Parts: sequence; structure tokens; C-alpha cells
Amino acid sequence: MAITHREFDYIKGLIKQEAAIVIDTGKEYLVESRLMPLAQKHGLASVKDLVDNLSKRDNQQLVTQVVEAMTTNETSFFRDFYPFEALKKKVIPDLIANRSAAKELVIWCAATSSGQEPYSLAMLIKENFPQLATWRLRIICSDISEEMLERTRSGVYNQLEVNRGLPVSLLMKYFKQDGTRWIVKDDLRRMLEVRLVNLAAPWPHLPQVDLIMMRNVLIYFDQVTKVSILKHAYDQLKVNGVLLLGSTETTINMNLSYQVQQYEKLSYYSKL
Ligand SMILES: C[S@@+](CC[C@H](N)C(=O)[O-])C[C@H]1O[C@@H](n2cnc3c(N)ncnc32)[C@H](O)[C@@H]1O
Repeated sequence: MAITHREFDYIKGLIKQEAAIVIDTGKEYLVESRLMPLAQKHGLASVKDLVDNLSKRDNQQLVTQVVEAMTTNETSFFRDFYPFEALKKKVIPDLIANRSAAKELVIWCAATSSGQEPYSLAMLIKENFPQLATWRLRIICSDISEEMLERTRSGVYNQLEVNRGLPVSLLMKYFKQDGTRWIVKDDLRRMLEVRLVNLAAPWPHLPQVDLIMMRNVLIYFDQVTKVSILKHAYDQLKVNGVLLLGSTETTINMNLSYQVQQYEKLSYYSKL
């Protein structure tokens, strides 16, 4: 049975309130297809029953599961290629030059999904910047979804996932095979600090950072939320720090203090 306006509006309001994610009218099918399996898992016959349960407001775990079901976790290793080229050839070399006295770099992947992005970054650093082995290097990765954070912590990927964007040479070097699964080796896994952060709620204490990767998450928010998060991210950056966004995301026309920089096909944003 298709979901009603009432059920759709309830879920839409809940997801906006909990995660700032905007679900557009017309996406009823999406809500239905994402929530039906969750309803069934709880022994409920329909999304209506799920909404009735949620309306009682006494089951925060269920709310969390609904939010997780409604997030889009699409990602891949070295996604979009150009950001990683810019990191290798421009952004990280510049940061290394700027931080050579302190010998400390703090990086934050702010919507890590299942971890392909921070692991790509960690491999890129190990392959291209061996000098950072003697620095204090922190790669903090966060997401709103505990399920995604658990996947990041485990570092376990299937064949399809490692086929997407990961060069075979890096697969062989940084992963061990376990049947049909590939598991990130411990030395790479240990480079990541995994934390729960809802970008749309007050942020927990985080250190000042040199590089924020906040890619392909702002697209889910409305303009007011985007501006507020980008302002907050600006405050979280050290001077000369850099923000990388997804290919369809920008700080332009938002009256923010970032300096827009260009490296070949990639725009990125600096705090000068
Ligand atoms: C499409 S993935 C992007 C993953 C990766 N950054 C990339 O570009 O490949 C979007 C991620 O944002 C997370 N997300 C959605 N709303 C969020 C919020 N309010 N706070 C933190 N993370 C959120 C989702 O759980 C999902 O893992």
C-alpha cells in the first residue's frame, strides 16, 4: 500500500528535524522503499504502522534507524578523481609547507559514509608524503550514521566496492583478502579516528583543523542549513586551512569569508 500524505509529511518532518535532510515532495516512493524493510524488520506490516510507532516518541533507537535508512551513502574510492589530484599536487604540499614548524596536520572527513573517502586519503598520504610519518597526523572521520561509522571502523569491502576507483596496486598493498571480502590492513585502519557528528546539530568538541573534506553532503540540506554549516566549518579551520566540497557544492553567493581557489578543474576554499 502506497504511503499517505500524512505519513510522508511525518517522515519528512522527522528527517528534517533530526538530520536537516530535505526530502522533496514527489519522493514518496523513496520513503516507502527505504522504510518498508525497516518496518518489516520490526514485525510491522506497513510504513503507516512504523509512523504510528514513531509518533509515540518513546523509541529513540527507532528514530535513529529511520534517519539511517533515509540517508544516501553513495561513495567510492578516490571519488571524482580531481579532488585527490589536487590534494596530491597542491593542497597537501601547501599545507606541509605552512605547517613545517609545528609538524602537525589535522584532517576531518565530515561525511565519511562507509569509509572509502578517508581510506583513499590515508593511502594517498602514505604513497606520496612519507615525510608525514614523523608528523602528528590525525584523520578524524565522522558521519551521522552509526552504521556507516561501524563500516568505516571495520574497513571491510566487497569486490564490487573495491572495483570502484581503487587501483589494483593499492588494493594489493593496503588490503588483505578474506574469501570474497577485502579488509583494510591495520596500519591504514589505525590512521582513522571515527566519531559520530551530526553536522546539523551542535558539534561536539573538535580540534582546529587544517583540511576539511565535506563532500556530497550539503546537497541534502536547505540553503539556511548549508550557510550555517559552512560558517561553522570556517571557524573550525586553522588559518591557511582548506575546505573541499563535492563537485556540485560551492560557497559562492553565500556571503562567506572563504577564498575560492582553483587547481586545474577543481575549486576549493581557503581560510586566509
Ligand atoms: C553521499 S554520502 C557522501 C560520502 C563521501 N563524503 C563522498 O563524497 O563519497 C553522504 C553522507 O552524509 C551523511 N549525512 C547525511 N546527513 C548528515 C548530517 N546531518 N550530519 C552528518 N552526516 C550526514 C550520510 O549518512 C552519508 O553517509
